[in-house]
Amino acid sequence: MLKKITTLASVVLLSAVTACGSGGGGGGTGSSGDTITMGFAQVGAESGWRTANTKSIQDEAKAAGIDLKFSDAQQKQENQIKAIRSYIQQKVSVIAFSPVVETGWDTVLLEAKRANIPVILTDRSIDSDDTSLYKTFLGSDFVEEGRRAGDWLVSNASGPTSVVELQGTTGAAPAIDRKKGFEEKIAAKPDIKVVASQTGDFTRSGGKQVMEAMLKSQPKIDVVYAHNDDMGLGAIEAIKAAGKVPGKDIKIITVDAVKDGMQALANGEINFIVECNPLLGKQLMDLAKKVVKGEEVPARVVTEEGTFTQEQAKAALPQRQY
Ligand code: AHR
Repeated sequence: MLKKITTLASVVLLSAVTACGSGGGGGGTGSSGDTITMGFAQVGAESGWRTANTKSIQDEAKAAGIDLKFSDAQQKQENQIKAIRSYIQQKVSVIAFSPVVETGWDTVLLEAKRANIPVILTDRSIDSDDTSLYKTFLGSDFVEEGRRAGDWLVSNASGPTSVVELQGTTGAAPAIDRKKGFEEKIAAKPDIKVVASQTGDFTRSGGKQVMEAMLKSQPKIDVVYAHNDDMGLGAIEAIKAAGKVPGKDIKIITVDAVKDGMQALANGEINFIVECNPLLGKQLMDLAKKVVKGEEVPARVVTEEGTFTQEQAKAALPQRQY
Protein backbone atom coordinates (compact mmCIF):
# COMPACT_ATOMS: atom_id res chain seq x y z
CA MET A 1 0.00 0.00 0.00
CA LEU A 2 1.26 3.40 -0.84
CA LYS A 3 2.17 5.25 2.26
CA LYS A 4 1.96 8.95 2.87
CA ILE A 5 5.24 9.88 4.47
CA THR A 6 3.97 11.79 7.43
CA THR A 7 0.85 12.70 9.29
CA LEU A 8 -0.57 16.17 9.40
CA ALA A 9 -0.50 18.64 12.17
CA SER A 10 1.28 16.79 14.90
CA VAL A 11 3.33 19.06 17.03
CA VAL A 12 6.98 18.95 17.86
CA LEU A 13 8.02 21.12 20.70
CA LEU A 14 11.48 22.29 19.81
CA SER A 15 12.07 24.17 22.97
CA ALA A 16 10.03 24.54 26.04
CA VAL A 17 10.44 28.10 27.11
CA THR A 18 8.63 31.40 27.19
CA ALA A 19 6.57 32.27 30.10
CA CYS A 20 4.01 34.97 29.48
CA GLY A 21 5.47 37.16 32.13
CA SER A 22 3.10 39.97 31.44
CA GLY A 23 0.13 37.65 31.68
CA GLY A 24 -2.83 38.11 29.42
CA GLY A 25 -3.63 40.86 26.99
CA GLY A 26 -4.51 44.46 27.53
CA GLY A 27 -8.16 43.58 27.10
CA GLY A 28 -7.74 40.46 29.23
CA THR A 29 -10.49 38.14 28.15
CA GLY A 30 -12.27 40.91 26.29
CA SER A 31 -14.85 43.42 27.33
CA SER A 32 -17.46 40.81 28.25
CA GLY A 33 -15.00 39.41 30.78
CA ASP A 34 -15.28 35.82 29.48
CA THR A 35 -14.81 35.91 25.76
CA ILE A 36 -11.32 35.97 24.28
CA THR A 37 -11.03 38.43 21.41
CA MET A 38 -8.39 37.67 18.79
CA GLY A 39 -7.24 40.18 16.19
CA PHE A 40 -5.87 38.24 13.22
CA ALA A 41 -3.95 40.02 10.44
CA GLN A 42 -3.85 37.65 7.48
CA VAL A 43 -1.36 38.00 4.60
CA GLY A 44 -3.96 37.96 1.82
CA ALA A 45 -5.73 35.49 -0.43
CA GLU A 46 -2.83 34.82 -2.79
CA SER A 47 -3.00 31.03 -2.97
CA GLY A 48 -5.04 27.88 -2.37
CA TRP A 49 -2.91 27.34 0.73
CA ARG A 50 -3.92 30.74 2.10
CA THR A 51 -7.62 30.08 1.47
CA ALA A 52 -7.38 26.82 3.43
CA ASN A 53 -5.43 28.55 6.21
CA THR A 54 -8.03 31.32 6.55
CA LYS A 55 -10.88 28.81 6.69
CA SER A 56 -9.06 26.78 9.34
CA ILE A 57 -8.56 29.90 11.50
CA GLN A 58 -12.16 31.07 11.12
CA ASP A 59 -13.67 27.62 11.76
CA GLU A 60 -11.49 26.88 14.77
CA ALA A 61 -12.05 30.31 16.35
CA LYS A 62 -15.78 29.62 16.17
CA ALA A 63 -15.35 26.11 17.60
CA ALA A 64 -13.22 27.50 20.47
CA GLY A 65 -15.68 30.30 21.27
CA ILE A 66 -13.08 32.95 20.41
CA ASP A 67 -14.35 36.24 19.00
CA LEU A 68 -12.25 36.66 15.83
CA LYS A 69 -11.54 40.02 14.24
CA PHE A 70 -10.09 39.19 10.83
CA SER A 71 -8.33 41.38 8.27
CA ASP A 72 -6.83 40.61 4.84
CA ALA A 73 -3.71 42.67 4.09
CA GLN A 74 -3.64 41.92 0.36
CA GLN A 75 0.05 41.02 0.61
CA LYS A 76 1.00 44.51 1.86
CA GLN A 77 2.97 45.01 5.06
CA GLU A 78 1.55 48.51 5.58
CA ASN A 79 -1.97 47.02 5.69
CA GLN A 80 -0.92 44.45 8.28
CA ILE A 81 0.67 47.15 10.43
CA LYS A 82 -2.54 49.22 10.22
CA ALA A 83 -4.62 46.19 11.21
CA ILE A 84 -2.36 45.44 14.19
CA ARG A 85 -2.59 49.08 15.36
CA SER A 86 -6.36 48.92 15.12
CA TYR A 87 -6.42 45.70 17.20
CA ILE A 88 -4.28 47.45 19.82
CA GLN A 89 -6.77 50.34 19.92
CA GLN A 90 -9.65 47.91 20.27
CA LYS A 91 -7.84 46.29 23.23
CA VAL A 92 -8.20 42.75 21.92
CA SER A 93 -7.07 39.91 24.21
CA VAL A 94 -4.47 38.56 21.77
CA ILE A 95 -3.07 39.44 18.34
CA ALA A 96 -2.05 36.76 15.83
CA PHE A 97 -0.60 37.31 12.40
CA SER A 98 1.27 35.77 9.51
CA PRO A 99 3.89 38.38 8.56
CA VAL A 100 3.94 39.09 4.83
CA VAL A 101 7.69 39.81 5.01
CA GLU A 102 10.31 39.05 7.67
CA THR A 103 11.58 42.51 8.58
CA GLY A 104 10.14 45.81 9.80
CA TRP A 105 7.92 44.67 12.68
CA ASP A 106 9.71 45.87 15.82
CA THR A 107 7.95 49.23 16.18
CA VAL A 108 4.38 47.98 15.94
CA LEU A 109 5.08 44.89 18.04
CA LEU A 110 6.62 47.09 20.71
CA GLU A 111 3.36 49.06 20.74
CA ALA A 112 1.45 45.81 21.33
CA LYS A 113 3.86 44.82 24.09
CA ARG A 114 3.47 48.21 25.81
CA ALA A 115 -0.31 47.78 25.62
CA ASN A 116 0.21 44.39 27.30
CA ILE A 117 -1.38 42.49 24.40
CA PRO A 118 0.34 39.17 23.67
CA VAL A 119 1.27 38.42 20.06
CA ILE A 120 1.42 35.02 18.36
CA LEU A 121 3.24 34.55 15.05
CA THR A 122 1.60 31.98 12.86
CA ASP A 123 2.72 30.41 9.56
CA ARG A 124 5.60 32.89 8.96
CA SER A 125 8.16 34.28 11.35
CA ILE A 126 9.88 37.64 11.64
CA ASP A 127 13.54 38.61 11.58
CA SER A 128 14.08 40.46 14.86
CA ASP A 129 16.62 40.20 17.67
CA ASP A 130 13.91 40.96 20.22
CA THR A 131 12.12 37.68 20.87
CA SER A 132 10.16 39.29 23.71
CA LEU A 133 7.95 40.89 21.06
CA TYR A 134 5.96 37.69 20.61
CA LYS A 135 5.01 34.75 22.78
CA THR A 136 5.36 31.90 20.31
CA PHE A 137 5.72 31.03 16.65
CA LEU A 138 3.50 28.29 15.20
CA GLY A 139 4.31 27.12 11.68
CA SER A 140 6.32 25.02 9.27
CA ASP A 141 10.07 24.63 8.95
CA PHE A 142 10.47 26.26 5.53
CA VAL A 143 14.21 25.53 5.26
CA GLU A 144 13.44 21.84 5.71
CA GLU A 145 10.79 22.09 2.97
CA GLY A 146 13.42 23.49 0.59
CA ARG A 147 15.81 20.70 1.58
CA ARG A 148 13.19 18.07 0.76
CA ALA A 149 12.68 19.59 -2.69
CA GLY A 150 16.47 19.62 -3.22
CA ASP A 151 16.87 16.03 -1.99
CA TRP A 152 14.33 14.80 -4.52
CA LEU A 153 16.10 16.57 -7.35
CA VAL A 154 19.53 15.29 -6.32
CA SER A 155 18.15 11.72 -6.31
CA ASN A 156 16.27 12.07 -9.60
CA ALA A 157 18.47 14.26 -11.82
CA SER A 158 20.89 12.70 -14.27
CA GLY A 159 23.49 14.71 -16.15
CA PRO A 160 23.59 18.48 -16.53
CA THR A 161 20.30 19.90 -15.21
CA SER A 162 19.12 23.49 -15.71
CA VAL A 163 16.66 24.61 -13.05
CA VAL A 164 14.48 27.72 -13.02
CA GLU A 165 13.19 28.86 -9.65
CA LEU A 166 9.86 30.62 -9.11
CA GLN A 167 10.31 32.36 -5.80
CA GLY A 168 7.60 33.36 -3.36
CA THR A 169 7.01 36.96 -2.28
CA THR A 170 10.30 38.85 -2.00
CA GLY A 171 11.34 39.15 1.65
CA ALA A 172 8.83 36.55 2.90
CA ALA A 173 10.15 33.84 5.22
CA PRO A 174 9.00 30.92 3.01
CA ALA A 175 10.66 32.46 -0.06
CA ILE A 176 13.96 33.05 1.75
CA ASP A 177 14.02 29.70 3.54
CA ARG A 178 12.79 27.46 0.72
CA LYS A 179 15.50 28.90 -1.51
CA LYS A 180 18.13 28.36 1.16
CA GLY A 181 17.20 24.74 1.91
CA PHE A 182 17.05 23.84 -1.79
CA GLU A 183 20.43 25.40 -2.55
CA GLU A 184 21.97 23.63 0.42
CA LYS A 185 21.00 20.23 -1.00
CA ILE A 186 21.72 20.75 -4.70
CA ALA A 187 25.23 21.96 -3.84
CA ALA A 188 26.09 18.25 -3.55
CA LYS A 189 25.62 17.83 -7.32
CA PRO A 190 27.44 20.55 -9.32
CA ASP A 191 25.69 19.33 -12.50
CA ILE A 192 22.48 20.89 -11.18
CA LYS A 193 22.42 24.63 -11.83
CA VAL A 194 19.79 27.25 -11.05
CA VAL A 195 19.92 29.26 -14.29
CA ALA A 196 17.20 31.78 -13.41
CA SER A 197 15.31 32.74 -10.24
CA GLN A 198 12.53 35.27 -10.01
CA THR A 199 9.53 36.05 -7.82
CA GLY A 200 6.01 35.06 -8.87
CA ASP A 201 4.60 36.43 -5.59
CA PHE A 202 3.05 33.06 -4.62
CA THR A 203 0.24 33.57 -7.18
CA ARG A 204 -0.85 31.49 -10.17
CA SER A 205 -0.81 34.51 -12.50
CA GLY A 206 2.65 35.50 -11.22
CA GLY A 207 3.99 31.99 -11.84
CA LYS A 208 2.55 31.94 -15.35
CA GLN A 209 3.95 35.33 -16.26
CA VAL A 210 7.46 34.62 -14.96
CA MET A 211 7.52 31.20 -16.62
CA GLU A 212 6.47 32.67 -19.98
CA ALA A 213 9.41 35.08 -19.80
CA MET A 214 11.84 32.35 -18.71
CA LEU A 215 10.77 30.05 -21.56
CA LYS A 216 11.71 32.83 -23.95
CA SER A 217 14.98 33.84 -22.31
CA GLN A 218 16.42 30.44 -21.29
CA PRO A 219 17.82 28.16 -24.01
CA LYS A 220 17.37 25.04 -21.87
CA ILE A 221 15.02 24.39 -18.94
CA ASP A 222 14.91 20.90 -17.42
CA VAL A 223 13.27 21.60 -14.07
CA VAL A 224 10.99 24.20 -12.47
CA TYR A 225 11.27 24.60 -8.71
CA ALA A 226 8.22 26.63 -7.62
CA HIS A 227 7.97 27.79 -4.00
CA ASN A 228 4.25 26.94 -4.01
CA ASP A 229 1.65 24.94 -5.94
CA ASP A 230 -0.10 27.99 -7.36
CA MET A 231 3.02 29.27 -9.11
CA GLY A 232 3.72 25.73 -10.34
CA LEU A 233 0.19 25.55 -11.76
CA GLY A 234 0.72 28.88 -13.51
CA ALA A 235 4.01 27.55 -14.92
CA ILE A 236 2.18 24.48 -16.27
CA GLU A 237 -0.12 26.78 -18.29
CA ALA A 238 2.89 28.62 -19.74
CA ILE A 239 4.73 25.38 -20.56
CA LYS A 240 1.70 23.95 -22.38
CA ALA A 241 1.22 27.20 -24.30
CA ALA A 242 4.85 26.92 -25.43
CA GLY A 243 4.10 23.47 -26.87
CA LYS A 244 5.98 21.48 -24.21
CA VAL A 245 4.74 18.75 -21.88
CA PRO A 246 4.85 19.63 -18.15
CA GLY A 247 6.10 16.76 -16.02
CA LYS A 248 7.95 15.21 -18.99
CA ASP A 249 9.79 17.80 -21.14
CA ILE A 250 10.15 19.98 -18.06
CA LYS A 251 9.96 18.43 -14.58
CA ILE A 252 8.16 20.39 -11.86
CA ILE A 253 8.72 20.45 -8.11
CA THR A 254 6.38 22.52 -5.89
CA VAL A 255 5.57 23.13 -2.22
CA ASP A 256 2.16 23.02 -0.42
CA ALA A 257 0.14 19.95 -1.58
CA VAL A 258 -3.22 21.69 -1.91
CA LYS A 259 -5.88 19.82 -3.89
CA ASP A 260 -5.19 21.47 -7.28
CA GLY A 261 -1.49 20.78 -6.90
CA MET A 262 -2.13 17.18 -5.85
CA GLN A 263 -4.43 16.71 -8.84
CA ALA A 264 -1.73 17.98 -11.21
CA LEU A 265 0.77 15.65 -9.49
CA ALA A 266 -1.58 12.68 -9.87
CA ASN A 267 -2.09 13.63 -13.55
CA GLY A 268 1.68 13.55 -14.13
CA GLU A 269 2.05 17.30 -14.75
CA ILE A 270 3.95 17.90 -11.49
CA ASN A 271 6.67 15.45 -10.45
CA PHE A 272 7.05 16.01 -6.70
CA ILE A 273 5.37 18.10 -3.99
CA VAL A 274 6.70 19.00 -0.56
CA GLU A 275 3.85 19.40 1.89
CA CYS A 276 3.16 22.60 3.86
CA ASN A 277 0.22 22.24 6.20
CA PRO A 278 -2.22 25.21 6.32
CA LEU A 279 -4.53 23.75 8.98
CA LEU A 280 -3.08 25.74 11.86
CA GLY A 281 -6.38 26.99 13.35
CA LYS A 282 -6.83 24.48 16.16
CA GLN A 283 -3.27 24.79 17.47
CA LEU A 284 -3.47 28.57 17.21
CA MET A 285 -6.66 28.77 19.29
CA ASP A 286 -5.17 26.43 21.94
CA LEU A 287 -2.06 28.61 22.16
CA ALA A 288 -4.16 31.79 22.31
CA LYS A 289 -6.15 30.51 25.28
CA LYS A 290 -2.92 29.76 27.10
CA VAL A 291 -1.17 33.05 26.46
CA VAL A 292 -4.26 35.02 27.46
CA LYS A 293 -4.32 33.12 30.77
CA GLY A 294 -0.63 33.84 31.23
CA GLU A 295 0.31 30.17 30.99
CA GLU A 296 3.61 28.96 29.60
CA VAL A 297 3.78 28.04 25.92
CA PRO A 298 6.67 26.70 23.84
CA ALA A 299 8.65 29.38 22.02
CA ARG A 300 8.37 27.40 18.78
CA VAL A 301 5.75 24.93 17.58
CA VAL A 302 6.65 23.19 14.30
CA THR A 303 4.02 21.52 12.13
CA GLU A 304 5.11 18.10 10.93
CA GLU A 305 4.81 17.55 7.20
CA GLY A 306 5.69 15.10 4.45
CA THR A 307 6.23 14.83 0.71
CA PHE A 308 4.27 13.33 -2.19
CA THR A 309 5.28 11.47 -5.33
CA GLN A 310 2.80 11.02 -8.19
CA GLU A 311 1.71 7.60 -6.89
CA GLN A 312 1.30 8.89 -3.35
CA ALA A 313 -0.82 11.80 -4.62
CA LYS A 314 -3.20 9.39 -6.37
CA ALA A 315 -3.67 7.49 -3.11
CA ALA A 316 -4.07 10.61 -0.93
CA LEU A 317 -6.36 12.69 -3.17
CA PRO A 318 -9.72 11.16 -2.19
CA GLN A 319 -9.15 12.10 1.48
CA ARG A 320 -7.53 15.47 0.86
CA GLN A 321 -9.36 18.14 2.90
CA TYR A 322 -8.07 21.22 1.11
O1 AHR B 1 3.52 31.04 4.13
C1 AHR B 1 3.04 29.92 3.50
C2 AHR B 1 3.04 30.12 2.02
O2 AHR B 1 2.27 31.26 1.69
C3 AHR B 1 2.45 29.01 1.19
O3 AHR B 1 3.35 28.03 0.84
C4 AHR B 1 2.02 29.76 -0.02
O4 AHR B 1 1.17 29.04 -0.87
C5 AHR B 1 1.40 30.94 0.61
O5 AHR B 1 1.07 31.94 -0.18
